[in-house]
Parts: sequence; structure tokens; C-alpha cells
Amino acid sequence: MTKDEAKSSIDALREKIEYYNEQYYQHHNSVVSDYEFDQLLEELIRLENDFPEFKSQDSPSQRVGGTITKNFETVYHRFPMLSLSNTYSEQDLLDFDKRIRKSLPDEDFEYFCELKFDGVALSLRYENGLLVQGATRGDGVRGDDITHNVRTIRTIPLKISGVDLPASFEVRGEAFMPRKSFTAINKEREENGEALLANPRNAASGTLKMQDSSIVASRKLDCYVYALLSEEALADTHAESIALLEKAGFNVSPTYRKCKDITAVIAYIEEWENKRLELPLETDGIVVKINSLAQQERLGYTAKSPRWAIAYKYKAQNAASRLLDIEYNVGRTGAVTPVALLEPVQLAGTVVKRASIHNANFIAEMDLRIGDTVYVEKGGEIIPKITGVELKDRLPQAPELEYPANCPACDTPLVRKEGEAAHYCPNETGCPPQIKARFEHFIQRKALNIDGLGERTIVALLEKNLIHTVADLYRLTYEEIYALEGFKDQSTQNLLAGIENSKKAPFENVLFGLGIRYVGRTVAEKLARHFRNVDAIANAEKEELIAVPEIGERIAESVYDYFRNPQHQQLIEELKEAGLQFEVTGRNKPESSELEGKTFVVSGVFEHFERDEIKELIQAHGGKVVSSISAKLDYLLAGDKMGPAKKEKAESLQVPILSEAEFLNMIGQNS
Ligand code: IVH
Repeated sequence: MTKDEAKSSIDALREKIEYYNEQYYQHHNSVVSDYEFDQLLEELIRLENDFPEFKSQDSPSQRVGGTITKNFETVYHRFPMLSLSNTYSEQDLLDFDKRIRKSLPDEDFEYFCELKFDGVALSLRYENGLLVQGATRGDGVRGDDITHNVRTIRTIPLKISGVDLPASFEVRGEAFMPRKSFTAINKEREENGEALLANPRNAASGTLKMQDSSIVASRKLDCYVYALLSEEALADTHAESIALLEKAGFNVSPTYRKCKDITAVIAYIEEWENKRLELPLETDGIVVKINSLAQQERLGYTAKSPRWAIAYKYKAQNAASRLLDIEYNVGRTGAVTPVALLEPVQLAGTVVKRASIHNANFIAEMDLRIGDTVYVEKGGEIIPKITGVELKDRLPQAPELEYPANCPACDTPLVRKEGEAAHYCPNETGCPPQIKARFEHFIQRKALNIDGLGERTIVALLEKNLIHTVADLYRLTYEEIYALEGFKDQSTQNLLAGIENSKKAPFENVLFGLGIRYVGRTVAEKLARHFRNVDAIANAEKEELIAVPEIGERIAESVYDYFRNPQHQQLIEELKEAGLQFEVTGRNKPESSELEGKTFVVSGVFEHFERDEIKELIQAHGGKVVSSISAKLDYLLAGDKMGPAKKEKAESLQVPILSEAEFLNMIGQNS
């Protein structure tokens, strides 16, 4: 492909992808399937990698992330990011209204109400129609430059066109993690034995501070905007600014309302008190703003907050109930999760019967006892949590709770690793809920995606002793399936076809499907991309595993141990024999064996590639990336801004130092 051809393909792909994005996020219209969309995006990324001179910050490829930021730069806000004063009662609101009327004597005014979104405040700067900076609030005067991470939020436009906005303007909004993403991430973390994220707000704020933007992209953050700022006057009212933002393609929550007086504001508050719980995100109150921008200016600011706005916070919704019992559930990795069974109680529009209590430490800290009166609160999770115990109501004879010593499902003594909060059942091969959950994990869409196989069939196959490990699925015969209750010819054929089809699932899906503790979907992808086949992962030393970006000691140890277990080795052999994918295929195939047997340490910043991309390139040509410089190392690949210590060490050990251009020459690519 010539450069010109590449350029026009890249332009065409970008236009198409942006169109689909806009249709999807602004008009809720799926023009193409997710699969087709991903294919286009992949094609674009491939072309941009092959022709790095056409890379661009406003390309939709930036949405998938991949940039690693070590330290976020501090940036000054053009307009200070203030906070709002809070009120908690109707009286406070009436007082606010009185103050406004006093400051605007004999003037008509209107209020504009919005929900108060519970996330992380963002400042988005646009220059000549392009998003040039995304920053956190910080101390209000300066915040962190998190542009790379902000670009992964799909509802934040990278480019604005078709509206008359000045060359330079700023948009303020709230980045948040939708409840659904939060629950899904925590479910996966729980299954993988990872610590749970506390609530959607912390999850959003932690995610935006991550160094690897590809992980940010996978976390599915969203953003509602609520302010448009510029040196030039763009509107007369806040309502007009909001309309401009909507027109420019920003995501504005449709929950706002113009209110003619404080009585209308109070009605808005009452209306949203329970309705807000059905929204896709957490909200903790409402924000009342004066609609006219001229009046806003006249009302002015205190040192910390505007005088023209106020936040009304809803009280956390909680209820008292009685702790009837504790149920202990065993998950796929053997982790035991206690769940409180409560006397049914109404809370924020639903009947609550269960509450999460995390682990033994939580039970001990709360000193929970059966029969206790407990307080439950609805947070971001679907399952509410216990927030307190009413000690004065405790029955004097209530015994202290003893955490079970044995597995509630198979009676094997539980173990608790040092430093971990959870108890585990170590009976991996004989504990029924673990076995069942392993199958469910294996067949799910993000893993082997076996159509026609559901929980009921898994249970039936297990009961009939037809399956013990996931490899047995690939040995099932027509007769065996047909004999199951509810199966006829067509459904049997469908299931067999689904199983056959799953052999095409890519390596990262298979690796994820194995259910190695701490190896979620993202980690599986990282490992697959880095090592390219299962044998390389199985043979990797812990230090090689840790050298992979975002793989820490805990994950490395878990992966290392998994592959040293003879039962797991046997399982992988059987799955290989069945024909599952155990290596990266397609465009990720090794491009040459030019660097076969050579080891590299990669350091600094590169002109044409992100650091991860350079590492991938080394592997694609047969080389290996390690993390520390030793006398055995073949090359130190040095970009800009590499620390002097690394350079000195390489020189003293006589390890050759390569520049980006020299490296590209080595693999036959000219920069
Ligand atoms: S307007 C001068 N509108 O609440 C401040 N803020 O305590 C103007 N927030 O930092 C902010 N929803 O992160 C505004 N609809 C909304 C909001 C909102 C959430 C957050 C924002 C701000 C904090 C103020």
C-alpha cells in the first residue's frame, strides 16, 4: 500500500467510525454490530501503526487507549474550578431563595435544576474544535492532566463541528462509572479473587488516575457535561449554554428542568428523590442554578463557591432490619463470600432481603450477631450493604459469630492466605460450586462463548457425570446430549455446533476462560499479546511475568503457580488436542525471527510508538522483553528522557544501547 492509499483509507475509516460513534452515543442507534465496529477500529489501528506519520490525537483510535503515563503533569485551570455550598433541608433552600431575591431586588429570575452527578469533575479544553486537554479539578486552581485517559470516554467528542463555537472554549462535566459497569467490574473482580472497588465514584476517580489508558478504556466510563465556559459571551442563559452543548454533541443528562420559582425547585427535588435511583449512574442531590448568566455575574462568588448556585443533598437512604442468618457462598476460585440474610425491609423503592458483608474481617469489625438489628444502605451496588448495628437492641445471650472452619459445600477445611481477607476452599477438583462456576466462567461470551450451553445443561451434565473438567465438553457425543432432559435433535445439533465453534475463540478468550485467579479479561489480553502463546506463558519465570505492563507480583505469582500444577498442565494438553486456540493468530503473528533469542530492556519515550507498541514489535520479531538490566542483557532500547541510572548501568555492563532508529533498522523498518 502506498502512503497516499494509506492516508485515504485512514481518513475514510475515521469518518465511518466517527459516524457510527455519533449514531450510537448521540442517537442511540446501532447501525453496525459491535463486531463490525471493532473490525473497522482494528483496521484503523493497524494502518496507523504501519504508517505512524498519520497518527493523530483526534483519531477515534485514541478511544482504545494504550498510552502509559508515569506522572500526570500539573496544569493550571483557565477558570477556577469552584465547589458548591451544600444544603440538606427545605428551609435552607428557602433561605437561599430569600438571599437571591434580596440581591436581585425587583427583578424577575428563573432557576435551572440539574441532578448532582456523583463522579469526578472534569475540565475539557477545546482549541479550534479539537479536544486538547482533559484535567481533574485538583485543588480548584490546578489539576492533573489526564488527557489520554479522558480520550477513552466515548461520549466526550474529540472533534467538534457544525456549531458556531469560538476557537477556544472549555466544558465542565462529571465523569462517572455507570452502575452497570461498576457492578460488572466488581463481579469480575470478585470471581478473580481481586479486591472490590468501594463505590462508583471511587472507581471512576481511581480509573482516571490509571497509568495505562487501555485499561481506562476497558472500564467504560461516561461523562455528563453541565457547563460551557469561554472568554466570549456565548449565551444569555444557562439553558442556552446547555442547548449549545447538546447541539455540539456533548452528553447532557436529559434530567434538567427550568423552574420558575423555589416551589417548582422543591417539586423537582421531590420528584427525583426516588426516580434518580433508576438512572444509570449515582446521583447524590440536585444543583439549583440561576438561569440568567447576567444575573449570575451580578450575584458573584464567595472564595469557594458561586452565590448563584447551591446543591441540595439527598439523605442517604437507609433502613433498619434484623439479621436472620448468614449464608456462605463458594465462588469459582474457592473464595468464600458471606451474605447477610435479612428480615425483608422496604428501602428506596425495593424490598431488601440480602446484604453484602464482604469477609470475616467485616463480621468481626461490626461484631455482627444473629438476631441483631442492623442498618442497611443502598450504595452503588445492586446488593445493599450493612452500615451499622444497633447494640442497645442486642439480646444478651446472642453468641459471637464463628466463621466456618470448613467449606459449607464440601466440608474441606478452609484456608486463609496471609494478608488476604477472604477464606478459600482448596478443594479445587471436588467442590461442587467451584466446579460449576468454572464451567460457567469457561462458556461465557467473553471466554469460549459456547452457544446453546447454559447453567441448566451444565448441571445436568455434571449430575450425569459426563463432564469433570472443561476438556470433557469437547468429548461429548450426540447420544449423550440427546439423552439429556429437554434435548431434541435440533437442540443437540445446536449445542454440538456451539462447542465446535468455540474452538475458534481467540487465545486471549481461552486464557481468560481457564479461570486463573486474578487473570481477568484485560490481564488475559495483556499476557496473550506479550507472550503470544501458552507455552511461553507457562514457561515464563516470575520476573518475566512482572515485566509485562500492569502485571504485578500477585498476578505473576498466581499465573506461575497455575502452570506448575500437573492437573492444569494435563487440562491444557487436552484442550490443545481438542483444537482450541493457544496462540495469537492473524495480524499478531510473528513478523520475523530477526530478534530470535535476543533480550531487550525498553526505556524512555519514543517518537513513533508508544512504549507498549515497541515491546510488541520486539516480540513480533521473536525477541523478548525483560525488566532489569544485567550483564546477560542483549540490548537497552533507549528513547527520549531515559533516566541516567539506566544508561550508566548499561554502559558499565557493556550492554549495547540502541536508539529507536537503530532498532527499526534492525527489524528492517526505516523510520
Ligand atoms: S455546577 C461552581 N452542576 O459538584 C461549581 N456541578 O461541589 C459549578 N457536580 O465539582 C458546578 N453535578 O463535580 C455542577 N449538575 C452539576 C453537577 C456538579 C455534579 C459536581 C461537580 C462540582 C461539585 C461541586
